[in-house]
Amino acid sequence: MSISRLPLFLLVFILGISCFSCKQNGANYEFSKEIRVDNAAVVSAHPKASEIGLNILKQGGNAIDAAIGVQFALAVCYPVAGNIGGGGFMVFKDTHGNIECLDFRETAPAGASADMYLDSQGNAISEKSQKGHLAAGVPGSVKGMVDMFEKYSKLKDWKALLQPSIDIAQNGFYITERQAKYFNEEKDNFIQYNDHQPALVKEHIWKKNDLLIQKDLAKVLTAIRDHKADGFYSSWVADTIVRSMNANGGIITHQDLKDYKTIWRKPISTNYKGYSIHSMPPPSSGGIALTQLLEMVEPYSLEKMPFHSAKAIHLITEAERRVYADRATHLGDSDFYEVPVDSLLNPYYLKDRMLDFDIQHASQSDSIYAGQFSESEQTTHFSIIDTGGNAVSITTTINGAYGSKSFVRGAGFLLNNEMDDFSIKPGEPNLYGLIGAEANKIEPGKRMLSSMTPTIVEKEGQTKMILGTPGGSTIITSVFQTIINKIDFDLSLRDAVHLPRFHHQWKPDEIRLEPDSFSNLLQDTLKAMGHKIKIKGKIGRVEAIWINEDGTIEAVADHRGDDTAVGY
Ligand code: DON
Repeated sequence: MSISRLPLFLLVFILGISCFSCKQNGANYEFSKEIRVDNAAVVSAHPKASEIGLNILKQGGNAIDAAIGVQFALAVCYPVAGNIGGGGFMVFKDTHGNIECLDFRETAPAGASADMYLDSQGNAISEKSQKGHLAAGVPGSVKGMVDMFEKYSKLKDWKALLQPSIDIAQNGFYITERQAKYFNEEKDNFIQYNDHQPALVKEHIWKKNDLLIQKDLAKVLTAIRDHKADGFYSSWVADTIVRSMNANGGIITHQDLKDYKTIWRKPISTNYKGYSIHSMPPPSSGGIALTQLLEMVEPYSLEKMPFHSAKAIHLITEAERRVYADRATHLGDSDFYEVPVDSLLNPYYLKDRMLDFDIQHASQSDSIYAGQFSESEQTTHFSIIDTGGNAVSITTTINGAYGSKSFVRGAGFLLNNEMDDFSIKPGEPNLYGLIGAEANKIEPGKRMLSSMTPTIVEKEGQTKMILGTPGGSTIITSVFQTIINKIDFDLSLRDAVHLPRFHHQWKPDEIRLEPDSFSNLLQDTLKAMGHKIKIKGKIGRVEAIWINEDGTIEAVADHRGDDTAVGY
């Protein structure tokens, strides 16, 4: 799309972004938003983590080595979502073109049960699935990093990958302005949900450039450096976790920690207009939902519709409404529930789902149901590419901002509140307003349904794009929009990532728009079609890499946060 075809308000927005995207100075960091390089790139949520990943690449590590360094660095310098107390998913493409996925999602402890967050009248108590120790699933991140290392590391020097993170935990790092604001906002929660004073709480308010030192966390990372997975799952750290659980109403036991396993899985893959899209299978809904969205809009020639026109937003919304209805009913951990993957992805089924799509009028979510078959604000994403062409797309989470808000006393890390991603009661909305039922009910050892959508896009076998984002329920639609922004609307990577986003998730029945981003005229047109509009906060923080025809690598870090793209 040429710039002259963009409406005026978008032009103003883009010009604003261009200025914003010049390197910014703050907290001794440069938030580099866009780069173009020849060899390798890292895009993550914090400049320190991106820098650590880049150093590993320059020292001869591959994308997996860099990813491990970035994951542990984020656990130190991006506590809102970076973690060792959470879990995640990786989509990985190796130098030979093989693509596989690693599931290091948290699991429900053996003592978990379907009614564990219900009171005696059967009412859901969301506070318990969202805050405090009982909200935590058994963490998977440390085992995930170890298993990635054993299978794919090039450096083969585990200790070297951990050391930079130990150093910044031990000696401290300077927090950004945004971090100071968030730490101050969370102070009351940190006091309420902890039996001790965690490192993120201090007497006076946090300010930009304050040094955050996390000595307990440094000790845990040292145990992981010296004993790999055992350093976390069966050492003094495990004792500390279990002690903290017992003292605070949590149920994770030594056995739960010992039993934790990662699972290598096959990606969900589809073709879209000459591109191959590979993303995460269950227990994430990301790959299935993304595939459904792409296939449902494909027959309607999005590429002929103007970017962010009412016509395009209406089509996308109607596809999203139907896909999220399916998600609520049919998706859960496929190791526990028979997810009808083939039916959900069947082209005839997807065509049928859009039969009642009316190009003029919105449908109502109350009259849209999941398809029938005859057969039985925190997460973080990073994208990395190395000189050998290895591509890593990882989304990792402790679920809400600062997870359960509870730290493990003496170990300095936050526990996730991932149990809230289960359906704690049929029809009860979770933190992200998502509902579910049988497929995603709590069972011991089961993994809670996720929306995380780490994705790799190829064209004729060559890697074209590596992307993903946080954002709870909005993850799927943000990844989807970023892909169609490139493929259908022919935007630059910068615009594809930075320009405003919208979102519909079936229920609540509303199109969520980012603030100050969509004109009144557009909103009125959508309302006249029968859509309900809700202006809410920012949507997603996409970290994307795009490989040009000439082999150069573009990397873009979302302007919505401190995210930083680096490379060489
Ligand atoms: O796995 C999931 O879908 C959620 N736990 C992700 C949470 C998230 O993205 C929060 N970020 N803003």
